[in-house]
Amino acid sequence: MSNGHILLRKSSELHGTIELTGAKNAVLVIIASLILANGKSILENVPNSADVQQMIALLTDLGAQVYFDRENNRLEVDTSTIDRFEVKQEIMNKMRASILVMGPLLARFGRAKVALPGGCLIGARPINYHLLGFKKMGVLLEEAGAFLNAVLSSHHSMQNHNRIILEYPSVGATENLMMFATLVPGETYIINAALEPEVLDLVDVLRKMGAKIEICDGMIIRIKGVDKLNPINHSVIPDRLEAGALLLAACITQGEIHLPTARADHMDIFLEKLREMGHEVTTGTNPASDLGYNMHQGIKLKATKFPKAVSFKTGPYPGFPTDLQAPTMATLCIADGVSTVEETVFENRMMHGQELQKMGAQITIDRTHATIRGVEMLYGAEVIATDIRASCALVLAGLVAVSQTKITGIHHWRRGYEKLERKIKLLGGNIEIFDEE
Ligand code: EPZ
Repeated sequence: MSNGHILLRKSSELHGTIELTGAKNAVLVIIASLILANGKSILENVPNSADVQQMIALLTDLGAQVYFDRENNRLEVDTSTIDRFEVKQEIMNKMRASILVMGPLLARFGRAKVALPGGCLIGARPINYHLLGFKKMGVLLEEAGAFLNAVLSSHHSMQNHNRIILEYPSVGATENLMMFATLVPGETYIINAALEPEVLDLVDVLRKMGAKIEICDGMIIRIKGVDKLNPINHSVIPDRLEAGALLLAACITQGEIHLPTARADHMDIFLEKLREMGHEVTTGTNPASDLGYNMHQGIKLKATKFPKAVSFKTGPYPGFPTDLQAPTMATLCIADGVSTVEETVFENRMMHGQELQKMGAQITIDRTHATIRGVEMLYGAEVIATDIRASCALVLAGLVAVSQTKITGIHHWRRGYEKLERKIKLLGGNIEIFDEE
């Protein structure tokens, strides 16, 4: 736990053009998926964040050879030397996304031993959907103390048709089960699957490896098992959550920003809400884009001086992303009128509300519902970040608060972003980050 902190002072309007880094929630699962492809893969546009470091440490611990060219955000991973299938407790406890190696390990070795992931602050975040799916696909699970032993039963190859119904379109469960299914004989259908852009970037990677994956109507993913998958080269999609944070930084300081690499087609609902607030948002602003116009690469925003209150509720893609709920709430604290926010994905993801209240925000929280009454100004305070996205919300509020804001708990900030404070500073933000005292 780093006891560093971030200091912020009131900033003038943020202005400028910023390149985005690769999406954290795509690259973590893509690194895990490389276990499936025996050999050396290359990933481009990999953010140098603490979570990526953690996933690299996990694969190295399993025996992979990894070289991370941080300067160029380029990662080389050779998984041919992986010879272990146990994820150590201290590694699991550091990052919940470690569970995403379970599917690849089962597919490659027929075995996996993982410590049960600690729930983190934003909810219990169990893995029951993952485990139910593995069981349906012939995996025998047995709890041994804090560990879970998973073994592919010998008769599984007889089942050449698996239908996995997800009670909730869980991102992690969809990814874990899909990766496992790529090497399981027969056909697997994942029904009520998550189709976030990060999940589709993983599908892109698995198909490059040689997997047979089809996205069917009605949120169904159909996977036809193959015998072998091969190493790949891939450039990770830009991070829509970093894009959201930067757009909101321009909104809250009434500035102007251009994100030429942002994929507007990954953020439709969120961009509509910015327009509803009164901000001028144009997309497809990147003439150099080789993605074809319909991908709307490039986002330009000119903030309004009189932002209006808006209401929204989070939900699975393409709904409003839960990871932009906290930063958007911060922006609504100084909008004109009353906003209501409902968090439907996690049961305890409103803790940033009480931190914003310390800064003078008029917010009432009732479990997963928040009502925000816009105020003229916010005041600097000492506040604590409770998760990655809460740290972003507090940074945004600190950019407009009339006096200094000090944020602790910044290991969250480092987990989720690669030097986002540097980008905010480049745009004119008064932000300083201090490491451990
Ligand atoms: C991924 O988490 C992201 N993390 C999260 O981003 C993101 O908020 C979330 O998807 C939703 O979009 C990564 O991709 C590494 P879920 P994940 O499984 O896969 C419940 C960030 O800030 N659930 O879709 O864990 C769960 O408790 C992070 O970057 C079960 O009950 O999310 C939650 O309430 C935060 N049982 C809901 O489903 C299960 O087996 C959604 O979880 C799995 C999930």
